[in-house]
Amino acid sequence: MNDGHHQNPSKYVMLSENGGSLRPQPYRRNVPRYSAPQRGCSCMKCLCCCFCFFFILILLMVGLTYFFFNLYHPKVPSYKVQGLDVGAFNVHQDFSLYTEFIVNVKAENPNEKIGITYGKDSSVVVVYSDSTLCSGPLPAFHQGYKNTTMMKVVLKGRSEFDPGLQTTFMDNNSTGRIPLLIMVRVPVTVTLGDLPMRQVVILVNCSLVVDSITPKKKVGIISSKYSISASL
Ligand SMILES: *[C@@H]1O[C@H](CO)[C@@H](O)[C@H](O)[C@H]1NC(C)=O
Ligand SMILES: *[C@@H]1O[C@H](CO)[C@@H](O)[C@H](O)[C@H]1NC(C)=O
Ligand SMILES: *[C@@H]1O[C@H](CO)[C@@H](O)[C@H](O)[C@H]1NC(C)=O
Ligand SMILES: *[C@@H]1O[C@H](CO)[C@@H](O)[C@H](O)[C@H]1NC(C)=O
Repeated sequence: MNDGHHQNPSKYVMLSENGGSLRPQPYRRNVPRYSAPQRGCSCMKCLCCCFCFFFILILLMVGLTYFFFNLYHPKVPSYKVQGLDVGAFNVHQDFSLYTEFIVNVKAENPNEKIGITYGKDSSVVVVYSDSTLCSGPLPAFHQGYKNTTMMKVVLKGRSEFDPGLQTTFMDNNSTGRIPLLIMVRVPVTVTLGDLPMRQVVILVNCSLVVDSITPKKKVGIISSKYSISASL
């Protein structure tokens, strides 16, 4: 909560630094006039300057990256589906299915100096056999350093449940192996110290195999597999 108040001063510092770097430009414009008489030499100088510039730039980048990793020790946050409750799983006469799942997600930020802000416009979708059962948003919140938060995600939805899909489902339910895919899409802003970085969208696929789906009951998770990617 307090972090929000500290963000503004650091923004102002950034701006004044940018403004300062604009000042030297008028002086630079005068330089070519003096070196104009010796053409070949100035070309070499220019080339040298270019190489020097890129060399220094690369050194600077390497230095900054090294500095960043040493200062912040970035670690990948982890997300685990800890439990799944079935609120409703009602098959209707018209072959539609009303599903309500409550998913408990354990979100762990192991970083000591990096905070994570989960934005709005997130989505969690549960897919069974290529058909979307239900969906809902993740809570939007800021997760501070070394913080573990349990998120309760409520997902609701109505879907087609044709006889073919019903047979497959009954088959899987009777053998006690139901494959579910949970797809998460969440915009995330990383904050270094008090400085917010640009937003990235994190995509997580969690492939679960659960033992049964029975209304008003907790399901047992037999196996889970995660794949994570990020898009800018
Ligand atoms: C973790 O962060 C959440 C959300 O900001 C907060 O409610 C919770 O108290 C924090 N937990 C700890 C152990 O600091
Ligand atoms: C679910 O049932 C379908 C059709 O019988 C089968 O192909 C699939 O392998 C089953 N899934 C699991 C995880 O047992
Ligand atoms: C799934 O199987 C269990 C028994 O293993 C049963 O109690 C439950 O009603 C079945 N679920 C559905 C939606 O038919
Ligand atoms: C998640 O699964 C969907 C559908 O199978 C696929 O299109 C998407 O690329 C996957 N995303 C990740 C991050 O694995």
